[in-house]
Amino acid sequence: MNQPYLELQAISKSYGSFLALDRISLNVHQNEFVCLLGPSGCGKSTLLRLIAGLDSMNQGSIQLMGNDITHVAAGKRDFAMMFQSYALFPNMTAAQNIAYGLENKKWNKHDIKEKVKEVLELVNLSHVADKYPAQCSGGQQQRIALARALAMSPKILLLDEPLSALDANVREKLRYEIRLLHDKLGMTTIMVTHDQDEALTMADRIVVMNEGHILQAGSPQDIYEQPQSPFVAHFIGTMNFIPKWSPESSAENNVYAIRPEHVQLSRERKGGLGETGKIENIEFRGSFYRLTVRAMNQEYETILIDVSPQILHQLELKRSDPIMYTLPSERIITFGQQLRSAVNS
Ligand SMILES: Nc1ncnc2c1ncn2[C@@H]1O[C@H](COP(=O)(O)OP(=O)(O)OP(=O)(O)O)[C@@H](O)[C@H]1O
Ligand SMILES: [Mg+2]
Repeated sequence: MNQPYLELQAISKSYGSFLALDRISLNVHQNEFVCLLGPSGCGKSTLLRLIAGLDSMNQGSIQLMGNDITHVAAGKRDFAMMFQSYALFPNMTAAQNIAYGLENKKWNKHDIKEKVKEVLELVNLSHVADKYPAQCSGGQQQRIALARALAMSPKILLLDEPLSALDANVREKLRYEIRLLHDKLGMTTIMVTHDQDEALTMADRIVVMNEGHILQAGSPQDIYEQPQSPFVAHFIGTMNFIPKWSPESSAENNVYAIRPEHVQLSRERKGGLGETGKIENIEFRGSFYRLTVRAMNQEYETILIDVSPQILHQLELKRSDPIMYTLPSERIITFGQQLRSAVNS
């Protein structure tokens, strides 16, 4: 593979005696869309701020295209950062907000005007050019902030939960728009989120963090299908954890897991296979139903099973029904003991 665009090497950051980031290393490639995903307090914003140069690290280094920028000031990195709160100047129109950074860079009036027009068109907001932030919706304000960031033609676009203050509909639309803009402009983007759907739908690569560490980095499909630890499995999507799977193949200290959509349901035992259960609850989830099934004679109490509306109706599934289910071996994910203790510690 060619040289990474951005290279983070063993970055540590502490606040007093608290270690917020512990030797984080990560390569980002040109044009890549990377999402930093993890629970609140795991260090996502801290890492993004260090990349932006807004904070200094205790240890480690950052290279951009092979040049060490560890000690380069934020303003000289040519990165643009956008936050959850719109942070627009309330006393300036959308156009003036976008122009502000360019004026600081001493662009001439004509070029500024052209650039403002161009980026407003990019985010489909030409019609709000002369409005003040208070006259714009939340989604519009966030798109203005995005336009302002894009106007600077940054080497890297850094986004810290840019969508989390918006309501669900606007958020989904903007997800799509940001990803399209990224593809169109080919801009290397690092986005922080604690929303797994956002990461799964937007990222080329997801970096899952917890407690100042990177637990796993990979494509959304990798992370979903091959989680390397129970933490990642649990954090992304829904997972059933089962202490034992089948007597022949279970090792004492392993943990086994299977996604609810991979458990197979039937009314009757098929070819001697299958576990017995009782439907405890049926939850409507829009495009599917989620069943909570009480497991009979197992070392776990309940298992979640997702079924399509067709299957639900075909099998005439109702609460309190007895049911059979099977756990296909090729869908079982196995976690070794070391992984379990690493995650619990
Ligand atoms: N300026 C600071 N002083 C002291 N501790 C801090 C400071 N900034 C962050 N921390 C601590 O560092 C840890 C990581 O914080 P950070 O803001 O990076 O988390 P995050 O992953 O972005 O979380 P969230 O999803 O809630 O935004 C937290 O425990 C936080 O309390
Ligand atoms: Mg944060």
